[in-house]
Amino acid sequence: MIQRHQLGKVPPKPHTAFRDASGRLLMEQCVTRRGFEGPFSILYFKVPPTDEFAVETASVPGFCPFELVDNQPLHRRHVRTQDHAAVGDFLTGRRTLMVNADLHVGICKTAEPAKNFFSNGDGDECWFMYSGSGYVESIYGILPFREHDYVLIPKSTPYRLHFEGNRGVGLVFEGRGGAINVPKEFRNEVGQITMYAPYTHRDFRMPERLLTFDKKLHGAAPYPQVTKLNDELSVHMYDHWPYELEGWDGFVYPVAFSIHDYQAKAGLIHLPPTTHITFSGPNFVICSFVPRVVDFHEQAIPCPYGHASVDMDEILYYVAGNFTSRRGIDSESISLHPQGVAHGPHPGTYEASIGTRRTSELAVMMDCYKPLRLTKFAAGIEDQDYHQSWVKHEGGTDAPGAR
Ligand SMILES: [Fe+2]
Repeated sequence: MIQRHQLGKVPPKPHTAFRDASGRLLMEQCVTRRGFEGPFSILYFKVPPTDEFAVETASVPGFCPFELVDNQPLHRRHVRTQDHAAVGDFLTGRRTLMVNADLHVGICKTAEPAKNFFSNGDGDECWFMYSGSGYVESIYGILPFREHDYVLIPKSTPYRLHFEGNRGVGLVFEGRGGAINVPKEFRNEVGQITMYAPYTHRDFRMPERLLTFDKKLHGAAPYPQVTKLNDELSVHMYDHWPYELEGWDGFVYPVAFSIHDYQAKAGLIHLPPTTHITFSGPNFVICSFVPRVVDFHEQAIPCPYGHASVDMDEILYYVAGNFTSRRGIDSESISLHPQGVAHGPHPGTYEASIGTRRTSELAVMMDCYKPLRLTKFAAGIEDQDYHQSWVKHEGGTDAPGAR
């Protein structure tokens, strides 16, 4: 939902007769958000996708369904996703880590080629590609992505993710009840991304070409599509390839954005972490911490000040850089600092940061209003001693990234 985009052919006016080269009338499908009030795209199918001949059920244990922990004593937490081995494809390899009413946070580490198309009817997805390059194959076309890209996939988009060599690692945010999008404050009155925003229209990549049937890649019928709604998986069976379009246009489609194109801001003194907002969803924000110069007052303390964000849970997904000053934290770690307890840098790191001029951190943060509940899968890879590490820490190095 960045700007109007079009692939293939569309008629001059919507809701008018539009035929392919053989004279066949094409089926128009309007994909709309917020009823008929929000953004929309109009798709022209070569064969209507409304004729699934069977519906079955499916499950991906750990993703859908998932189990929540029975008890969750209130303290800071550290989930070691690096301890989870790659398994499955972009769908069967997904595991849910944390949940509230507004979003699910999950991890996906693939080891197999993509199999079935997947449509998430529960909400928009925002993937952060920790590693792996490849492309999104969706009803809106082919969208290449690279390591460290965000990939936004609108709710109910049938898609597959193909990783080169079948190996990729993604952090997945799944929003509920609203779109994951560019925050309103980054748009002007005509919807253009403003000059104050931390990115420009040119930083977003759109689907490049329409998806076309390829027997070698897509195989023979039947074509199953897995759809999730209310955290239940259904498999809809088609006896024809249901994703071939003559064209589409509109504002609803997947986009890719590299975290390295995020234009971070620095201030005379330390700016709050939400200065790094990248996308917003219903009651949560996703923020990007990228290598940058830090605060430039002579006595500035670049290490984030301790804080009690009493209305927000905060998770940080560590990708690369100088977060190793945090004991036990490594690349692929996720810290969860819940509302209800204060948090801040480890002892020693606060003073040691004075005089620091740059940080090399690369991390993704998510702040949300409603408390997150861990799944049993996340609890199984949790570092049980993390919340004690402020007590046990021996001293610090620079830690501009310790939040
Ligand atoms: Fe924080």
